[in-house]
Amino acid sequence: ERGGFDHFMQKEIYEQPQAIRDTLGGRIDENGNVDIRAELTFSDRNVCDIDRVHIVACGTASYAGMVGKGLLEQLVRVPVEWDIASEYRYKGPIFTENTLVIVVSQSGETADTLAALREAQRNGARVLAITNVVGSSIAREADDVLYTWAGPEIAVASTKAYTSQLIAFYLIALHFARVRGALPQEQLRALAVQLRQLPEQAERLLAQAGKLREMARKIARHAHVFYIGRGLDYAVSLEGSLKLKEISYIHSEAYAAGELKHGTLALIEEGTPVIALATQRALFGKTLSNVKEVKARGAYVIGLRTEGNGELDSSVDDLLEIPDVHPLLTPPLSVVLLQLLAYYTAVLRGNDVDKPRNLAKSVTVE
Ligand code: F6R
Repeated sequence: ERGGFDHFMQKEIYEQPQAIRDTLGGRIDENGNVDIRAELTFSDRNVCDIDRVHIVACGTASYAGMVGKGLLEQLVRVPVEWDIASEYRYKGPIFTENTLVIVVSQSGETADTLAALREAQRNGARVLAITNVVGSSIAREADDVLYTWAGPEIAVASTKAYTSQLIAFYLIALHFARVRGALPQEQLRALAVQLRQLPEQAERLLAQAGKLREMARKIARHAHVFYIGRGLDYAVSLEGSLKLKEISYIHSEAYAAGELKHGTLALIEEGTPVIALATQRALFGKTLSNVKEVKARGAYVIGLRTEGNGELDSSVDDLLEIPDVHPLLTPPLSVVLLQLLAYYTAVLRGNDVDKPRNLAKSVTVE
């Protein structure tokens, strides 16, 4: 049933090109127009009226939501608040007349996310769910559902559900941006066309597995690992770091790269692994200076950039590359490499990769 793979997690990492393809489905036409109108109850008027978005989820789904926040802010220019579901419910969220709440949940059964959905509806907000399970509680109770078509995810550590959630956010952001005229249609179509190339590009990244197994060897014996990045790279760093800690049991933290010098830099010692994501062209120079800061303190640095962009070679110990895509499209590619790194590290440490200690696949307690 693992189809020749050693673990479900490994199989699910390799299923990502298909999961992305299936989630894009018939939702983009050949001219690059995203249209998900048929799946939503929103009129174009409703889409134009949205004046605020809340994105609410737990764990990995929340990190997909953090990328979603960046996409909606940059492409739709709508203000977005992002919250962990277990915090959202109790903080007295502030709703406007036209607040849209987007909840994200692979299982559709996470208790805190479901409670957040109910809290939003009680306040009169419209709730759009991104979920992977048809007929789940969240799918049934939400006002609208945009399904991810990742297929069943068995490993406790989420992989293909996360990438599919990212795709759902691209579709929502591009659809909203088009309806609201937030950006020139040409620009949106160009992005959609690139989006359709992601499955093939993700496929090619999987060929780097051997390289990541080698890097895993270098970090497997360490007690602490840091991930740094700016903008969308920071959001992906959080997910990469969670993946590593939940299955390898190595303590790891993700930091907005510019924040290191405000405290965390004190933890960098000779040999401390730092995974530096530098795929955001406009922020490259800034991230590079943060790389130099940790390098100067003796860190072992793995740098990640888009092919050929930015002089990183001389400042890092090992280099990872993803295809040269638009900066908004790097997260689903970068994450594949981080998942492989976490996977091989856990395997090398002899852990039960698919069923990490203390964790459950679906968290139905609050
Ligand atoms: C981590 C992981 C969890 C889930 C979280 C939410 O790999 O899988 O952090 O993302 O428990 O679960 P769902 O998406 O089912 O609501």
